[in-house]
Amino acid sequence: MKSNNIRNICCIGAGYVGGPTMAVIAQKCPEINVTVVDINEQRIADWNDEDLDKLPIYEPGLKEVVAEARGRNLFFSTEIDQGIRDAEMIFMSVNTPTKTYGKGKGMAADLKFVELSARRIAEVATDDKIIVEKSTLPVRTAEAIRSILDNVGNGINFQILSNPEFLAEGTAINDLLYGDRVLIGGDHSTPEGQAAMDALTEVYAHWMPRERILQTNVWSSELSKLTANAFLAQRVSSINAISALCEKTGADVDEVARAVGTDSRVGPKFLKSSVGFGGSCFQKDILNLVYICRSLGLEEVADYWEQVIIMNDYQKRRFAENIITTLYNTVSDKKIAFLGWAFKKDTNDTRETAAMYVADHLIEDHANIHPYDPKVTEKQMYEDLNHLNTRSEEENKGRLKVEEDPYKATKKAHAIAILTEWDQFIDYDWQRIYNNMKKPAFLFDGRNILDANKLSKIGFIVYQIGKSDKVVSST
Ligand code: UDX
Ligand code: ADP
Repeated sequence: MKSNNIRNICCIGAGYVGGPTMAVIAQKCPEINVTVVDINEQRIADWNDEDLDKLPIYEPGLKEVVAEARGRNLFFSTEIDQGIRDAEMIFMSVNTPTKTYGKGKGMAADLKFVELSARRIAEVATDDKIIVEKSTLPVRTAEAIRSILDNVGNGINFQILSNPEFLAEGTAINDLLYGDRVLIGGDHSTPEGQAAMDALTEVYAHWMPRERILQTNVWSSELSKLTANAFLAQRVSSINAISALCEKTGADVDEVARAVGTDSRVGPKFLKSSVGFGGSCFQKDILNLVYICRSLGLEEVADYWEQVIIMNDYQKRRFAENIITTLYNTVSDKKIAFLGWAFKKDTNDTRETAAMYVADHLIEDHANIHPYDPKVTEKQMYEDLNHLNTRSEEENKGRLKVEEDPYKATKKAHAIAILTEWDQFIDYDWQRIYNNMKKPAFLFDGRNILDANKLSKIGFIVYQIGKSDKVVSST
């Protein structure tokens, strides 16, 4: 396939990865028709909604890109077969959650949706296609996809590329437009493989400088994605481990992070201590890495990476337990307001969010949780909590009272916990919030975004991650 032959792209999966990525490709490549297909009819209807505030995912800058390209060369559709048939290049952006059953349960990626999509492509394709794996996948998935496609035996030539996603939610559009690199894994050893890689390179070269488009073999590309996320998550767990030590010694974790991060060999990013990392990728990718290592007999390597997750679980539990201990060893029937539920600011995504684990832990101790999040719906919060299967849906309903107003959420609360670093929380009328709370008014800042001195002057008793002047003066 010639690189300049791509006129129609199809993307299977209209989620957090497929949606924004295709929107940007369509915006930057006006001569290519980009069709995003999904089995979820509601999702497609939402992508097609005239009211751009109703797009199914919230990302700063996304609606402007969709407004420009939708209807011109960007289409959202449930006509999956048609989309596959028309395209020379097909992206697979379906979800790959951690398996919840059978072999590899709780560790391995569930490739059910990937396999179903590959089988669909194999069944309906009538001419040669380039298949681009975009979902986060374990190493060697390309091989599985190839085996499915090659074994349908209808003589069609499929080239499989790995093109891992490096966008972070909340900054997806910016990351897509100005990413550090684009990685394309493929088969250098055949002219068809090289041509497929070049074809995808041409798509990105519409806006990415060519020196940032890296071509590697498929396995390196797949493993690079897992490794990049493992390294990033490891930094967060490392600083969170130090935060626990800071609280016992009187050191300030933000000062330590700044001092460490100014060493140019370490660098300043991803050293912000928090209540724990969340999101759809970090935990899943590390579990994948651990699972692969164990399957290959690399026990020490598996144990090494697993510790990053163990530390993250510890951080979430530590935060919740500190609330219980501070509130005189019980939160039974106490009102705890949560500011934030999303796994980070500027997204409505809640996958693996620390908020649901902290809520779950506190509800075990019979707390009443009143969360407010500017972008997450009530329905989503209940789904998150119910998904953990700790207690009945009825009991969750009795303990979780989702609020639409932060002042109402915090009124008569015994404590406030900040779970997401939304900017708007900083500018709230904290004096008003204090006046309306039960006293003593406790505040647990799981993101260290608020001015603790100012809040203490108002009268709050403030707990921050990785800081504790109290400890120093009392020992
Ligand atoms: C991540 C990777 O950054 C991205 O390259 C990949 O494509 C997908 O996975 P994402 O999960 O969307 O992106 O967000 P990210 O900004 O990495 O944050 C992940 C979690 O770590 C969030 O819960 C965030 O709050 C937390 N975090 C991040 C910290 O607690 N401290 C930090 O310093 C950085
Ligand atoms: P991600 O963060 O990886 O984008 P999402 O869950 O946000 O994950 O999106 C994945 C999308 O893929 C969902 O909208 C889901 O409906 C869609 N999907 C899953 N399987 C298929 C399939 N076989 N055909 C079409 N779409 C699919």
